[in-house]
Amino acid sequence: MSRLISRRAEAIDASGIRKVFDLAARMKDPINLSIGLPDFDVPEPGKQAAIRAIESGHNRYTQTQGIASLRERLRADLSREMGKDVGEVLITSGVSGALLLAILSVIDPGDEAIFLDPYFVMYKHLITMAGGKSVIVDSYPDFGFPADRVEQAVTPKTKMLILNSPSNPTGMVMTPQQIEQAVRIARKHNLLILSDEIYEPFLYDVSRENRVYSPLSLYDNTLVVRGFSKSYAMTGWRVGYACGPAEIISQMTKLQQYTFVCAPSPFQEGALAALDVDMSRSVESYRRKRDLVYSKLSQKFEIQKPGGAFYIFPKVPDGMSASAFVEQAIANNVLIIPGNVFSERDTHFRISYATTDDKLLQGCDILLSLV
Ligand SMILES: Cc1ncc(COP(=O)(O)O)c(C=O)c1O
Repeated sequence: MSRLISRRAEAIDASGIRKVFDLAARMKDPINLSIGLPDFDVPEPGKQAAIRAIESGHNRYTQTQGIASLRERLRADLSREMGKDVGEVLITSGVSGALLLAILSVIDPGDEAIFLDPYFVMYKHLITMAGGKSVIVDSYPDFGFPADRVEQAVTPKTKMLILNSPSNPTGMVMTPQQIEQAVRIARKHNLLILSDEIYEPFLYDVSRENRVYSPLSLYDNTLVVRGFSKSYAMTGWRVGYACGPAEIISQMTKLQQYTFVCAPSPFQEGALAALDVDMSRSVESYRRKRDLVYSKLSQKFEIQKPGGAFYIFPKVPDGMSASAFVEQAIANNVLIIPGNVFSERDTHFRISYATTDDKLLQGCDILLSLV
């Protein structure tokens, strides 16, 4: 180890995903089913508002908590959805920024945070960066919410339960009963629920209007993080937001002041304009793709039908590791991600179906031919 490198940085192992990228770099025109972002573009009113913002001089720092118009709009929308005033909303540099600030505000060295396996990769690494301990609870084979196992994992050091519904990488959506179970555990043990709802608009089997969706509607000690990267295809614009307990939002705001400073100024204006765009056609088209990929791949693979996001997480045939299967797929020009990037297990693979029907069908046919 170089004398200059911190133990914090050394502790982060990115070898799994790097190996996939190295293999991918050698592919010519791959059928790429690995990309975790929508294949549609930013809606036009969002683009125009960002351009107008740049041209009219909105290029400086904003208040660290974000522009008032966006914060007020989100507070009103979220309060309506949660059935109570959600308090101040903090605009962050993407949901990634919100996750980092939340974890730095809550986790001390030695503190524990529980989340389910499979998981969004960043949780583990952010908790390591904060000096905390990830307590990872297996949710195979159905990727539901194993309440008993979660409760057994709680110790006096547990501070946080991270939920991610709809989930990356499984696409699973928590049922109202599962959310109630998570809230019951959090309430009993006085835990913060960090609810990563970045894929919240992509729900295929429940109506967005009649749902108990966010634990924040049931439990005040919930920090909700959402963003614009996936819902409006603004991954490069870096705009997300957080709302929840005032004392945590205020710590996050202080930390944002000394790290990110603020989310990008013109893109906050663009994000605000995008909130008025009806995205239901895009969501509908992803529902159709979900059905397409599920009906194809379930012919030969064991799969839990996802209810949201744009991922599906099939199991590779018995006797084979996911990494070996992915190498075969890549050799046949299909780029997918092995489950061990998102999991302590190496038995499944992640497909992102946010691509054209043509590519999706070609990719599925090749994957089926490998079994
Ligand atoms: C579950 C989940 N949370 C957070 C993020 C980060 O999103 P952002 O681009 O807003 O930082 C992602 C991105 O892939 C994600 O899948």
